Amino acid sequence: MSAGTIDAIGNTDGTGGDRDRGSGGSGATAPAEGWALRADGLAFAYAGGTPTFTGISLGVRPREIVALLGGSGCGKSTLLRVLAGLQPPSAGSVQFLGAPLTEPSPRSALVFQQASLLPWLNVAANVGFGLDFARQPKITRQEHGRRVHDAIAAVGLAGSEKRYPAALSGGMAQRVALARALARQPALLFADEPFSALDAITRAEMQTLLVDVVHRWHTAALLVTHDIDEAILVADRIVLMGGRPGAIVREWRVDLPRPRLADGAGVAALRLDILAALQGLRTITTTTTESIA
Ligand SMILES: Nc1ncnc2c1ncn2[C@@H]1O[C@H](COP(=O)(O)OP(=O)(O)OP(=O)(O)O)[C@@H](O)[C@H]1O
Ligand SMILES: [Mg+2]
Repeated sequence: MSAGTIDAIGNTDGTGGDRDRGSGGSGATAPAEGWALRADGLAFAYAGGTPTFTGISLGVRPREIVALLGGSGCGKSTLLRVLAGLQPPSAGSVQFLGAPLTEPSPRSALVFQQASLLPWLNVAANVGFGLDFARQPKITRQEHGRRVHDAIAAVGLAGSEKRYPAALSGGMAQRVALARALARQPALLFADEPFSALDAITRAEMQTLLVDVVHRWHTAALLVTHDIDEAILVADRIVLMGGRPGAIVREWRVDLPRPRLADGAGVAALRLDILAALQGLRTITTTTTESIA
Protein backbone atom coordinates (compact mmCIF):
# COMPACT_ATOMS: atom_id res chain seq x y z
CA MET A 1 0.00 0.00 0.00
CA SER A 2 1.45 3.32 -1.00
CA ALA A 3 -0.19 5.53 1.58
CA GLY A 4 0.71 4.54 5.10
CA THR A 5 -1.59 5.04 8.03
CA ILE A 6 0.09 6.40 11.13
CA ASP A 7 -1.21 6.07 14.65
CA ALA A 8 -3.12 9.00 16.06
CA ILE A 9 -0.51 11.34 17.43
CA GLY A 10 -0.06 13.46 20.41
CA ASN A 11 -3.38 13.30 22.19
CA THR A 12 -2.53 10.76 24.82
CA ASP A 13 1.20 10.32 25.05
CA GLY A 14 2.56 13.44 23.35
CA THR A 15 4.94 11.50 21.14
CA GLY A 16 3.83 13.39 18.05
CA GLY A 17 4.83 12.11 14.64
CA ASP A 18 8.19 10.69 15.68
CA ARG A 19 6.94 7.16 15.21
CA ASP A 20 6.29 7.60 11.53
CA ARG A 21 10.02 8.00 10.82
CA GLY A 22 11.10 5.45 13.34
CA SER A 23 12.94 7.89 15.57
CA GLY A 24 10.98 6.88 18.64
CA GLY A 25 8.79 9.33 20.48
CA SER A 26 10.13 10.72 23.71
CA GLY A 27 7.10 12.51 25.10
CA ALA A 28 6.28 16.15 25.58
CA THR A 29 9.90 17.04 26.25
CA ALA A 30 11.03 15.68 22.87
CA PRO A 31 13.78 17.88 21.41
CA ALA A 32 12.91 19.93 18.36
CA GLU A 33 15.91 18.69 16.33
CA GLY A 34 14.81 17.38 12.96
CA TRP A 35 11.67 19.51 13.01
CA ALA A 36 11.11 22.87 11.36
CA LEU A 37 8.11 23.26 13.63
CA ARG A 38 7.22 21.24 16.67
CA ALA A 39 4.23 21.73 18.96
CA ASP A 40 3.58 19.78 22.14
CA GLY A 41 0.46 19.60 24.28
CA LEU A 42 -1.18 22.66 22.75
CA ALA A 43 -4.51 23.87 24.05
CA PHE A 44 -6.39 27.03 23.24
CA ALA A 45 -9.63 28.72 24.31
CA TYR A 46 -10.99 32.08 23.19
CA ALA A 47 -11.69 34.46 26.08
CA GLY A 48 -14.75 33.32 27.99
CA GLY A 49 -15.26 30.32 25.72
CA THR A 50 -14.90 26.56 25.95
CA PRO A 51 -11.59 25.06 24.71
CA THR A 52 -11.22 25.24 20.93
CA PHE A 53 -8.65 22.44 20.99
CA THR A 54 -6.67 20.52 23.59
CA GLY A 55 -3.69 18.17 23.76
CA ILE A 56 -2.41 18.83 20.26
CA SER A 57 1.09 17.75 19.36
CA LEU A 58 2.37 17.87 15.83
CA GLY A 59 5.50 18.57 13.86
CA VAL A 60 6.54 19.67 10.40
CA ARG A 61 9.92 18.55 9.16
CA PRO A 62 12.17 20.70 6.97
CA ARG A 63 10.93 20.59 3.36
CA GLU A 64 7.87 18.60 4.33
CA ILE A 65 4.33 19.50 3.22
CA VAL A 66 1.79 18.72 5.93
CA ALA A 67 -1.93 19.13 5.31
CA LEU A 68 -4.07 19.89 8.34
CA LEU A 69 -7.46 18.53 7.32
CA GLY A 70 -10.72 18.88 9.18
CA GLY A 71 -14.34 19.95 9.03
CA SER A 72 -15.47 23.54 9.28
CA GLY A 73 -15.19 25.00 12.76
CA CYS A 74 -12.95 22.29 14.24
CA GLY A 75 -10.25 24.85 14.99
CA LYS A 76 -7.81 24.56 12.07
CA SER A 77 -7.34 28.30 11.55
CA THR A 78 -7.03 28.90 15.27
CA LEU A 79 -4.38 26.17 15.50
CA LEU A 80 -2.52 27.63 12.53
CA ARG A 81 -2.47 31.07 14.16
CA VAL A 82 -1.09 29.56 17.37
CA LEU A 83 1.54 27.60 15.44
CA ALA A 84 2.52 30.76 13.55
CA GLY A 85 2.98 32.70 16.79
CA LEU A 86 0.04 35.03 16.11
CA GLN A 87 -1.84 33.85 19.19
CA PRO A 88 -0.37 32.43 22.40
CA PRO A 89 -1.62 28.95 23.40
CA SER A 90 -3.47 28.44 26.70
CA ALA A 91 -1.18 25.48 27.35
CA GLY A 92 1.69 23.72 25.64
CA SER A 93 4.63 24.96 23.63
CA VAL A 94 5.70 25.66 20.06
CA GLN A 95 9.28 25.33 18.87
CA PHE A 96 10.25 26.86 15.55
CA LEU A 97 13.65 26.07 14.06
CA GLY A 98 14.69 24.70 17.43
CA ALA A 99 13.78 27.75 19.52
CA PRO A 100 10.64 28.54 21.55
CA LEU A 101 8.20 30.59 19.50
CA THR A 102 6.67 33.59 21.26
CA GLU A 103 5.88 35.81 18.27
CA PRO A 104 5.66 35.39 14.49
CA SER A 105 9.05 34.54 13.06
CA PRO A 106 10.50 36.36 10.04
CA ARG A 107 11.55 32.87 8.87
CA SER A 108 7.91 31.92 8.39
CA ALA A 109 5.30 33.37 6.04
CA LEU A 110 1.54 33.16 5.74
CA VAL A 111 -0.88 32.87 2.84
CA PHE A 112 -4.63 33.14 3.43
CA GLN A 113 -7.79 32.48 1.45
CA GLN A 114 -7.87 36.11 0.32
CA ALA A 115 -4.74 37.48 -1.31
CA SER A 116 -5.04 40.75 0.67
CA LEU A 117 -2.96 42.77 -1.76
CA LEU A 118 -2.51 46.50 -1.32
CA PRO A 119 -4.53 48.00 -4.20
CA TRP A 120 -2.31 51.07 -4.57
CA LEU A 121 0.86 49.02 -5.08
CA ASN A 122 1.75 47.15 -8.23
CA VAL A 123 2.67 43.45 -8.27
CA ALA A 124 6.39 44.01 -7.65
CA ALA A 125 5.75 46.44 -4.78
CA ASN A 126 3.19 44.08 -3.24
CA VAL A 127 5.67 41.21 -3.36
CA GLY A 128 8.41 43.36 -1.81
CA PHE A 129 6.08 44.89 0.76
CA GLY A 130 7.26 44.26 4.30
CA LEU A 131 10.70 42.95 3.34
CA ASP A 132 12.23 46.03 4.94
CA PHE A 133 10.07 46.00 8.08
CA ALA A 134 12.01 46.28 11.32
CA ARG A 135 11.57 42.61 12.29
CA GLN A 136 12.83 41.37 8.94
CA PRO A 137 16.52 40.59 8.47
CA LYS A 138 18.30 43.57 6.91
CA ILE A 139 18.90 43.12 3.19
CA THR A 140 20.48 45.37 0.58
CA ARG A 141 18.45 47.12 -2.13
CA GLN A 142 20.02 44.76 -4.63
CA GLU A 143 19.02 41.71 -2.61
CA HIS A 144 15.51 43.15 -2.20
CA GLY A 145 15.21 43.49 -5.98
CA ARG A 146 16.58 40.02 -6.57
CA ARG A 147 14.17 38.41 -4.12
CA VAL A 148 11.17 40.16 -5.65
CA HIS A 149 12.27 39.21 -9.14
CA ASP A 150 12.90 35.56 -8.24
CA ALA A 151 9.65 35.18 -6.31
CA ILE A 152 7.59 36.66 -9.14
CA ALA A 153 9.32 34.36 -11.64
CA ALA A 154 8.73 31.34 -9.36
CA VAL A 155 4.97 31.85 -9.44
CA GLY A 156 4.90 32.40 -13.20
CA LEU A 157 4.15 36.12 -13.18
CA ALA A 158 7.27 37.46 -14.89
CA GLY A 159 6.14 40.35 -17.09
CA SER A 160 3.26 41.31 -14.76
CA GLU A 161 5.40 43.27 -12.29
CA LYS A 162 3.80 46.62 -13.10
CA ARG A 163 0.18 45.47 -13.06
CA TYR A 164 -2.10 46.55 -10.23
CA PRO A 165 -4.31 44.22 -8.14
CA ALA A 166 -7.51 45.50 -9.78
CA ALA A 167 -6.24 44.11 -13.08
CA LEU A 168 -5.48 40.61 -11.72
CA SER A 169 -7.67 37.51 -11.76
CA GLY A 170 -8.25 35.69 -8.46
CA GLY A 171 -5.65 33.08 -9.41
CA MET A 172 -3.07 35.74 -10.32
CA ALA A 173 -3.72 37.57 -7.06
CA GLN A 174 -3.09 34.36 -5.12
CA ARG A 175 0.13 33.88 -7.09
CA VAL A 176 1.20 37.37 -5.95
CA ALA A 177 0.34 36.44 -2.35
CA LEU A 178 2.44 33.29 -2.70
CA ALA A 179 5.31 35.31 -4.22
CA ARG A 180 5.10 37.79 -1.33
CA ALA A 181 5.50 34.87 1.08
CA LEU A 182 8.37 33.34 -0.93
CA ALA A 183 10.27 36.64 -1.08
CA ARG A 184 10.83 36.25 2.67
CA GLN A 185 12.63 32.99 1.92
CA PRO A 186 10.66 31.25 4.65
CA ALA A 187 11.71 28.01 6.25
CA LEU A 188 8.01 27.32 6.71
CA LEU A 189 5.02 28.51 4.77
CA PHE A 190 1.68 28.58 6.60
CA ALA A 191 -1.25 28.45 4.21
CA ASP A 192 -4.87 28.66 5.38
CA GLU A 193 -7.22 27.41 2.64
CA PRO A 194 -5.28 29.49 0.12
CA PHE A 195 -7.08 28.12 -2.94
CA SER A 196 -10.61 27.58 -1.71
CA ALA A 197 -11.95 30.74 -3.36
CA LEU A 198 -10.59 29.72 -6.78
CA ASP A 199 -12.32 27.81 -9.56
CA ALA A 200 -11.45 24.12 -9.92
CA ILE A 201 -9.01 24.51 -12.82
CA THR A 202 -7.12 27.41 -11.25
CA ARG A 203 -7.11 25.59 -7.93
CA ALA A 204 -5.49 22.53 -9.52
CA GLU A 205 -2.84 24.76 -11.15
CA MET A 206 -2.13 26.45 -7.83
CA GLN A 207 -1.85 23.13 -5.99
CA THR A 208 0.77 21.99 -8.51
CA LEU A 209 2.54 25.33 -8.23
CA LEU A 210 2.61 25.14 -4.44
CA VAL A 211 4.25 21.71 -4.46
CA ASP A 212 6.69 22.90 -7.13
CA VAL A 213 7.83 26.03 -5.29
CA VAL A 214 8.01 24.30 -1.91
CA HIS A 215 10.33 21.70 -3.43
CA ARG A 216 12.43 24.15 -5.43
CA TRP A 217 12.73 26.70 -2.62
CA HIS A 218 13.50 24.05 -0.02
CA THR A 219 10.82 25.30 2.29
CA ALA A 220 8.30 23.38 4.37
CA ALA A 221 4.57 24.01 4.36
CA LEU A 222 1.61 23.57 6.67
CA LEU A 223 -1.52 23.70 4.56
CA VAL A 224 -4.91 24.04 6.23
CA THR A 225 -7.69 22.62 4.09
CA HIS A 226 -11.08 20.98 4.34
CA ASP A 227 -10.66 19.51 0.85
CA ILE A 228 -9.65 15.84 1.03
CA ASP A 229 -8.49 15.78 -2.60
CA GLU A 230 -6.34 18.86 -2.10
CA ALA A 231 -4.70 17.23 0.93
CA ILE A 232 -4.01 14.02 -1.02
CA LEU A 233 -2.67 15.81 -4.10
CA VAL A 234 -0.37 18.16 -2.21
CA ALA A 235 0.76 16.69 1.11
CA ASP A 236 3.55 14.40 2.22
CA ARG A 237 1.56 13.85 5.39
CA ILE A 238 -2.09 14.42 6.23
CA VAL A 239 -3.13 15.22 9.79
CA LEU A 240 -6.85 14.91 10.51
CA MET A 241 -8.29 17.24 13.12
CA GLY A 242 -11.77 16.90 14.56
CA GLY A 243 -13.96 16.63 17.63
CA ARG A 244 -15.02 19.20 20.20
CA PRO A 245 -12.73 20.38 21.58
CA GLY A 246 -10.56 19.82 18.52
CA ALA A 247 -7.86 17.16 18.63
CA ILE A 248 -5.70 15.32 16.14
CA VAL A 249 -7.45 12.07 15.50
CA ARG A 250 -5.44 10.40 12.78
CA GLU A 251 -2.51 10.84 10.47
CA TRP A 252 -1.47 9.41 7.10
CA ARG A 253 1.87 9.50 5.35
CA VAL A 254 1.28 9.89 1.62
CA ASP A 255 3.91 8.00 -0.34
CA LEU A 256 2.08 8.11 -3.66
CA PRO A 257 4.34 9.20 -6.53
CA ARG A 258 3.83 12.65 -8.01
CA PRO A 259 1.87 13.69 -9.92
CA ARG A 260 -0.56 11.97 -7.61
CA LEU A 261 -3.40 11.64 -10.10
CA ALA A 262 -1.24 9.19 -12.06
CA ASP A 263 -2.00 6.63 -9.32
CA GLY A 264 -5.78 6.81 -9.46
CA ALA A 265 -6.25 3.63 -7.43
CA GLY A 266 -3.91 4.81 -4.67
CA VAL A 267 -5.62 8.19 -4.47
CA ALA A 268 -9.06 6.57 -4.38
CA ALA A 269 -8.05 4.13 -1.62
CA LEU A 270 -6.62 6.89 0.56
CA ARG A 271 -9.64 9.08 -0.11
CA LEU A 272 -11.96 6.31 1.09
CA ASP A 273 -9.86 5.76 4.19
CA ILE A 274 -9.97 9.46 5.07
CA LEU A 275 -13.71 9.62 4.40
CA ALA A 276 -14.25 6.63 6.69
CA ALA A 277 -12.22 8.34 9.41
CA LEU A 278 -14.28 11.53 9.00
CA GLN A 279 -17.47 9.51 9.12
CA GLY A 280 -16.31 7.80 12.32
CA LEU A 281 -15.50 11.19 13.76
CA ARG A 282 -18.98 12.43 12.93
CA THR A 283 -20.52 9.42 14.65
CA ILE A 284 -18.44 9.99 17.78
CA THR A 285 -19.25 13.72 17.82
CA THR A 286 -22.97 13.10 17.30
CA THR A 287 -23.05 10.45 20.03
CA THR A 288 -21.18 12.72 22.42
CA THR A 289 -23.45 15.65 21.66
CA GLU A 290 -26.53 13.50 22.13
CA SER A 291 -25.32 12.15 25.43
CA ILE A 292 -24.67 15.70 26.63
CA ALA A 293 -28.11 16.90 25.46
N1 LIG B 1 -12.03 35.41 17.35
C1 LIG B 1 -12.80 34.44 17.82
N2 LIG B 1 -13.44 34.57 19.01
C2 LIG B 1 -14.21 33.60 19.52
N3 LIG B 1 -14.41 32.40 18.91
C3 LIG B 1 -13.80 32.20 17.73
C4 LIG B 1 -12.97 33.19 17.12
N4 LIG B 1 -12.49 32.70 15.94
C5 LIG B 1 -13.01 31.46 15.82
N5 LIG B 1 -13.78 31.16 16.88
C6 LIG B 1 -14.49 29.89 17.11
O1 LIG B 1 -13.51 28.88 17.29
C7 LIG B 1 -13.91 27.69 16.64
C8 LIG B 1 -12.84 27.26 15.62
O2 LIG B 1 -12.78 28.25 14.60
P1 LIG B 1 -11.72 28.16 13.42
O3 LIG B 1 -11.90 29.36 12.58
O4 LIG B 1 -10.37 27.93 14.01
O5 LIG B 1 -12.20 26.84 12.68
P2 LIG B 1 -11.79 26.25 11.27
O6 LIG B 1 -11.56 24.80 11.46
O7 LIG B 1 -10.69 27.05 10.68
O8 LIG B 1 -13.13 26.47 10.43
P3 LIG B 1 -13.30 26.72 8.83
O9 LIG B 1 -12.97 25.44 8.14
O10 LIG B 1 -14.74 27.10 8.69
O11 LIG B 1 -12.37 27.83 8.44
C9 LIG B 1 -15.26 27.97 16.01
O12 LIG B 1 -16.25 27.49 16.87
C10 LIG B 1 -15.31 29.47 15.92
O13 LIG B 1 -16.63 29.95 16.02
MG1 LIG C 1 -10.53 28.25 8.98
